[in-house]
Amino acid sequence: MQVTELDPRSTAQALVAPGKGILAADESFPTIEKRFKSVGLESTEDNRRTYREMLFRTPGVEASISGVILFDETIRQAGSDGVPFPELLSARGIIPGIKVDKGAKALAGAAGEKCTEGLDGLRDRLAEYRELGARFTKWRAVFAIGPGTPSETCVHVNAVELARFAALSQEAGLVPIIEPEVLMDGTHDIESSADVTDHVLQSVFEELYIQHVHLEDLLLKTNMVLSGYACPDQATPDVTAFWTVRCLQRHVPVAVPGVVFLSGGQSEEVATVNLDAINQRGGHPWELSFSFGRALQASALRAWANEPTDIATAQGEFLRRAADTAAARTGTFQTVSIAFTVAGVLLLALRILSIGSSVSFLLGLMFPLLALLATLLILRRP
Ligand code: 13P
Repeated sequence: MQVTELDPRSTAQALVAPGKGILAADESFPTIEKRFKSVGLESTEDNRRTYREMLFRTPGVEASISGVILFDETIRQAGSDGVPFPELLSARGIIPGIKVDKGAKALAGAAGEKCTEGLDGLRDRLAEYRELGARFTKWRAVFAIGPGTPSETCVHVNAVELARFAALSQEAGLVPIIEPEVLMDGTHDIESSADVTDHVLQSVFEELYIQHVHLEDLLLKTNMVLSGYACPDQATPDVTAFWTVRCLQRHVPVAVPGVVFLSGGQSEEVATVNLDAINQRGGHPWELSFSFGRALQASALRAWANEPTDIATAQGEFLRRAADTAAARTGTFQTVSIAFTVAGVLLLALRILSIGSSVSFLLGLMFPLLALLATLLILRRP
């Protein structure tokens, strides 16, 4: 069966299938311009199309990537062979999705805060996106932590809009990804991030209930609970995982099939290690996966900007990030990398020691195997 023929519930489940997650490639015009500028590229329509085609055609990436969130321009574009992007992706078993909000704008009555626009005309746009091949949608709301913020006004208005978007998406037969993002810029500690995330998630799920949104047919996309980026006391991955899972346990009903995290400005490595720690805690009722933008694309974008004709190198970077993130999504990223490092070092040492003696070589082979086993056992969490 084609991925585009799945019903909404199966689509939601397929997006968070074990070992897989979502690529967010839905950067708006100002955002992609910022990303391209950071690597010295001009944001022309052709550059945007060619760059995204490079990502979408990466051989083997479908083993780790279940879906791709597209931007309005991208869902209407095609590969160099004329195949429309949604078709190109679904032929590879990757579900096409679409960002449908029109960005966070100044919220009248709440100085410095934002609410997301895009509800006007949304019913018609959803019907068109479905026609173009999209099977899921995304709407992002942002909440900044500061003195007195986010205000109750900001939290309430955005929660109502997220639920309106979700109800309309489900009416159109599309799976909504609800994205309340608590921004991690600032000097606040991790407990403050947890308090604000608690409050935002609680308000969003109350509003989803009021507006009759089916929890089984949606995904939550949210921030990891982190120390503010400028906080002098940076939480370890274990502490980050503790607060993140605690927020979810307190506010996300078990009927929701999955939570996908945004990377939110963390480096590729940090986002991966944190996702790994979250999954290592185990025992959660939802799939805990990823929907990263920057943390999946940064290396690939750098490589592509460095040599746009060397598609294979850029695709290799993307494939490596996707595979590492998919390992973190099952909590095996660190275990596997440490085990391989230990086994590799021991093998090398034993190879040197075993020269000239087949007995010591055989004995020596047991050490890396035992080391591998021990590492796996030590790192296994209850
Ligand atoms: P980042 O992972 O770069 O935060 O992007 C995810 C996203 O889709 C933001 O809306």
